[in-house]
Amino acid sequence: MSHAEDHEGTRRDFLYYATAGTATVAAGAAVWPLVNQMNPSADVQALASIRVDVSEVETGTQLTVKWRGKPVFIRRRTEQEIEEGRAVPLSDLPDTDARNANTPGEATDENRTLDEAGEWLVMMGVCTHLGCVPLGDGAGDFDGWFCPCHGSHYDTAGRIRKGPAPENLPVPVAAFDDETTIVLG
Ligand code: FES
Repeated sequence: MSHAEDHEGTRRDFLYYATAGTATVAAGAAVWPLVNQMNPSADVQALASIRVDVSEVETGTQLTVKWRGKPVFIRRRTEQEIEEGRAVPLSDLPDTDARNANTPGEATDENRTLDEAGEWLVMMGVCTHLGCVPLGDGAGDFDGWFCPCHGSHYDTAGRIRKGPAPENLPVPVAAFDDETTIVLG
């Protein structure tokens, strides 16, 4: 094999691994910073808003979408998750700001969700400590999300409860456009 062919082979391998890495973004906290450094393409970054079909999202599950180069968690919460979130007094919260671009105010459970019933929670999947992607599906000590990088625990409303992260997971500009479509941005 000539030197040139060898070089090309290496490059192909690299591109292959880069693509494989992107596919596992939602699953691994450690993968994200690497993908982030590779930079999403300019057209993805430029998308000011996207429409997300949530008709397939079952209660108790979460959809992760990529928006402006970052993961966004869209969770359809169970009754228990809603009750747990609403039972927490503000005095138990390290960060009492809702961090919600749609509903500024205190970090009550009601001020964090997209709908009044509290079923839909939409937030950036980026830990407010150093930017890793927290694990979801009831993870951590507060049945919400857990960032294993340095041990930050978020509750069922995505509010920081324990660990080094200083703020609640931010809720981006989002709204229902119809019963099964959420618009981000
Ligand atoms: S990045 Fe999440 S705890 Fe450090």
